[in-house]
Amino acid sequence: MIKKSTIDQVFDAARVEEVIGDFVQLKKSGSNYKGLSPFTDERTPSFMVSPVKQIWKDFSSGKGGNVVAFIMEHEHFNYPEAIKYLAKKYGIEIEETEQTDEQKQLADERESMYLVSEFANKFFQKKLLKTEQGKAIGLSYFKERGFTNETIEKFDLGYSPDIWDAFTEEALKQGYQLEFLEKTGLTIVKEQKKFDRFKGRVMFPIHSMSGRTLGFGGRILTNEKKAAKYLNSPESDIYHKSKVLYGIYYAKQSIAKEDNCYLVEGYTDVIQMHQAGIENVVASSGTALTPEQIRLINRLTKNITVLFDGDAAGLRASLRGIDLILEQGMNVKVCAFPEGEDPDSFAKANTKEDIEAYLQQNSKDFISFKASLLVDQAQGDPIKKAEVIRDMVNSIAKIPDQIQQEIYLKECTRIMDVSEDVLYSTLAQLNAKNNKDSGRKTSTQKKNFEVIKQPKEVRPKVDRQFELERNIISLLLRYGKVEDEFEEYVYKEDRDGNLELELEKQEAKVYEKIFLDLQEDEIEFTNDSFRLLYEQIIYEFNTKEDLKVETFINQLSPEQASDITSILMAEEKNVLHRWEDQDIFVQPRTKLEAREVNDTILNLRLHLVKQKVAELMQDAKKDIAEHHQEILEQVIEYKKLEMNIAERIKRVL
Ligand code: CTP
Ligand code: MN
Repeated sequence: MIKKSTIDQVFDAARVEEVIGDFVQLKKSGSNYKGLSPFTDERTPSFMVSPVKQIWKDFSSGKGGNVVAFIMEHEHFNYPEAIKYLAKKYGIEIEETEQTDEQKQLADERESMYLVSEFANKFFQKKLLKTEQGKAIGLSYFKERGFTNETIEKFDLGYSPDIWDAFTEEALKQGYQLEFLEKTGLTIVKEQKKFDRFKGRVMFPIHSMSGRTLGFGGRILTNEKKAAKYLNSPESDIYHKSKVLYGIYYAKQSIAKEDNCYLVEGYTDVIQMHQAGIENVVASSGTALTPEQIRLINRLTKNITVLFDGDAAGLRASLRGIDLILEQGMNVKVCAFPEGEDPDSFAKANTKEDIEAYLQQNSKDFISFKASLLVDQAQGDPIKKAEVIRDMVNSIAKIPDQIQQEIYLKECTRIMDVSEDVLYSTLAQLNAKNNKDSGRKTSTQKKNFEVIKQPKEVRPKVDRQFELERNIISLLLRYGKVEDEFEEYVYKEDRDGNLELELEKQEAKVYEKIFLDLQEDEIEFTNDSFRLLYEQIIYEFNTKEDLKVETFINQLSPEQASDITSILMAEEKNVLHRWEDQDIFVQPRTKLEAREVNDTILNLRLHLVKQKVAELMQDAKKDIAEHHQEILEQVIEYKKLEMNIAERIKRVL
């Protein structure tokens, strides 16, 4: 684990506008910066960065938070990865908490393997671009395939010299230990002799989601029938074939942005598509898709389009892949290329626009695809047709979401021209079987469909209480320590015992005023997240008499930080819109109006009292005999209070 002191240092050093500035072109706008959202395709900027509060907000996607949240969101890093990224940027040394000897050894070992792989990566690149043999054999091969210099550099392509131990020799000379050369599979040791695994091949490094080199694929350049066309790094502590997707590091941004991922088979398919300008592409590297690989994509989008070669080989295997994708609740489309073409050849021969048009026109949902594929074989053969339908329902049964199941069943009914009832009962059978197989509860699917068809409960459109609670948090964050004079009308008894409204003035800080007023009425927030925030904010003020948003936010969970960011940026959103509409700049309001505090608190009280009255009336209806009188008396008391508060609000205004 990274030490707390390191994390604190990172937060001290990192400036949100600098970090984001590496990814987004920011322009000054008032006290903030503005730019195009890196998360959506937009023309007018709705992405805001506040250097004062050290937060950012993307109004088009709704995302927002502190500097770490941005890196996590943008680079798809987890928390420690984001901290490490920032530490590197600001030259901060990372200190980790003590590990056990065993942990330390494993971590050291993996780290050594990463270092060796990175060295190999650089070595192969240098050989490709800087040596005669590399240029004559490797580089000319890539050029022949149509790869530009830019592409070759972007994908770190390389060449492993056609000498038995060129790499091993150099690595050992540079001080890398044989143990790790062997463990990464770069060197093969046989009867005391050391060989380079990838001798004489062009090299495709395989990167992790965060860009580390995990392993390699090496393509042979000769026509030897005996040797495998591609040779890959063996499984190791850092390279698990079933858990990586070739190209994910280069594709992740685009996958999230396009909200779709194209899945192809090979290295060259990915590279050629990129070169053509389509970047949301990854490859399963020739093997059947695994659940772990699908999960990698699932972090970025819910939509996958599987691209097939023109020849039907491998189609069966891919059909199985589709079921795996459906099982994870993702949406699958399928697109086949023309006879004899694969994504590589197709992308090489067409422009971006043509490719996009082709993909758009030929992508089918999996039901239609299966239908078109299988129907040809089943023409005029009822037994085959039944098999096809069973196969489709089988896939539908894998979908976890029942609404989607129903939609696809309807589609299947339409295409295959069978009655819905038959399909429903087949599905119910399959579901029951699946449930039994996996030991889940055996509530039949049929029941669930009935549930779906019932009308959904209607929710209120605006939640008044939510808004008021949110407002209080907002006041605390923006003006918490501001001292002001609060004018308030309070009821006082005069000499004859009559209640009269009297103006009272009171000097206080905003947080004191809010805290004391809410405490007096024993008001508790109903929204869990707001209640927690409220408690943390009040604690901060009570202990430090101050609250610096830019540091406070770093103590919070990502969800809370995001909540706070939305609240703080609400004003900016307003400004942004008016600015866009009228092309004028509006200064955000920065001054507190004391009235707003009273107003919010009184409105919250009023709301709660009204709620209480409504509750009591309900009780009164149910409980006619016994406590009826008692309840009605309470109602009258609360009604009086309600009127008092309403009157006070009127006076404040
Ligand atoms: N593959 C592999 N080992 C092999 C053959 C293939 O690992 N012996 C993997 C590679 O990741 C390859 C993918 O399967 O990229 C697809 O195989 P294939 O279609 O044969 O390769 P292409 O990428 O089309 O290779 P090329 O165009 O260079 O012939
Ligand atoms: Mn190919």
